[in-house]
Amino acid sequence: RTARFTLDPAFTIGEVNPRLFGSFVEHLGRCVYTGVHEPGHPSADEAGLRTDVLDLVRELGVTTIRYPGGNFVSGYKWEDSVGPVEERPRRLDLAWRSTESNHFGLSEYIAFLRKIGPQAEPMMALNLGTRGVAEALELQEYANHPSGTALSDLRVSHGDKDPFGIRLWCLGNEMDGPWQTGHKTAHEYGRLAAETARAMRQIDPSVQLVVCGSSSQSMPTFAEWEATVLAETYDLVDYVSLHAYYWPTDGDFDSFLASAVDMESFIDNVVATCDHVGARLKSKKKINLSFDEWNVWYLPGWEEHSATADPRDWPEAPRLLEDNYSVMDAVVFGSLLIALLRHADRVTVACLAQLVNVIAPIMTEPGGPAWRQTTFFPFAQAARYGRGQVLDVRVDSPTYETAKYGETDLLHATAVRGEDGSVTVFAVNRSRTESLPLEVALNGLELTSVVEHSALADADPDARNTLDEPERVTPHTVAGTTLRDGTLQAVLEPLSWNVIRLR
Ligand code: AHR
Repeated sequence: RTARFTLDPAFTIGEVNPRLFGSFVEHLGRCVYTGVHEPGHPSADEAGLRTDVLDLVRELGVTTIRYPGGNFVSGYKWEDSVGPVEERPRRLDLAWRSTESNHFGLSEYIAFLRKIGPQAEPMMALNLGTRGVAEALELQEYANHPSGTALSDLRVSHGDKDPFGIRLWCLGNEMDGPWQTGHKTAHEYGRLAAETARAMRQIDPSVQLVVCGSSSQSMPTFAEWEATVLAETYDLVDYVSLHAYYWPTDGDFDSFLASAVDMESFIDNVVATCDHVGARLKSKKKINLSFDEWNVWYLPGWEEHSATADPRDWPEAPRLLEDNYSVMDAVVFGSLLIALLRHADRVTVACLAQLVNVIAPIMTEPGGPAWRQTTFFPFAQAARYGRGQVLDVRVDSPTYETAKYGETDLLHATAVRGEDGSVTVFAVNRSRTESLPLEVALNGLELTSVVEHSALADADPDARNTLDEPERVTPHTVAGTTLRDGTLQAVLEPLSWNVIRLR
């Protein structure tokens, strides 16, 4: 059976915020050290940044980059990470049971962003685990105040004359999670987040603040957490955060392929909770969503590792969470991107967790090459072509049965209309065995031709890119896709991510 939908410029979801294509650099494993930063590497610049990685980051098209954690931030002392590198202290990182050298810090992070280009924007997370209001204010003053105070002059003395101009701040990380250093109840955290936000706005009323929502929709405190925290912070913050990771459990690939069903319901439920609190407060303000950690992550692998790791061992930049992604993972990943785009009216910040080596689209070898994982391609294509107005896509699709989500559409799709009137359809066929014919009626769009139909699919759904075979999987062009008399016709290969560009 054919899957169908209609596109009409009169029916839109909203404008895509460039911040939807953010990512995340955490002091975790080899994301920073030997990932982003490797002095002595043949491609390293004068600051020790790997230029081969910088090139791939630019190609990926990431915008906002969240830093320095993640769980790491809940033990982070920002002042350890500034000033002369040789004087910076080595510290225990409790979150990842590692030793932190602080050779890469705040100034290096800002330099990294500036080298990526003007599209890269900082998103700085604050430690509300072991620290509080005072340290947040000190960091804000160090980073953003021009000069003439102790902390801003300290930054200048460290060689950073220009303020960092950090606008977007996370008030802690996953404070609902019992694994978080300094974990708090919703009430405790809500009060701390409110007081931190209030004080930060005394320095600069225009800061944009993200309050912690739940670490996943399956947390026992989900929704109640958001409602309690937002009751304390509604007028003081701009965003609430969402985090979600997906992996196949017990070989149930059909449910895994439908992971975006959970992501979309998570978004809908958080929107409902925000708006409920807003209604209770009789507020006209809307809180937007910052989906600042999302990805496919084979989480049980990490849990097994941490349960068996030698407790006396505090390695430096160990190989942690280095998931190697298959074609199937990339299709699920693409479907998660579709879910974010479909909610672009309220999800106005999102960060792919993470950027390099750690559950990442870019991998590196110390002293060796950098390469693209399968997930690199859907992200790069969405970040490039998913700019403009998201059109309202309501699919009429054949379905399949999943253990976790019941009857689910085989087609998952969205479409974005650029400023020049061109339209890009992003579509996933969740069937592992069957091609899916697709027909799209184009109403009032004045589109005449198919520019390109690109697909990521493979006869082997387990195919991956590796150090030995870095280009085993790349997108290919699909022939035979047509646009005639206002109708687009295409065939989506089994288990495929598709980008169909029309003009
Ligand atoms: O991205 C990896 C980890 O996942 C982050 O540190 C944490 O916030 C989340 O649990």
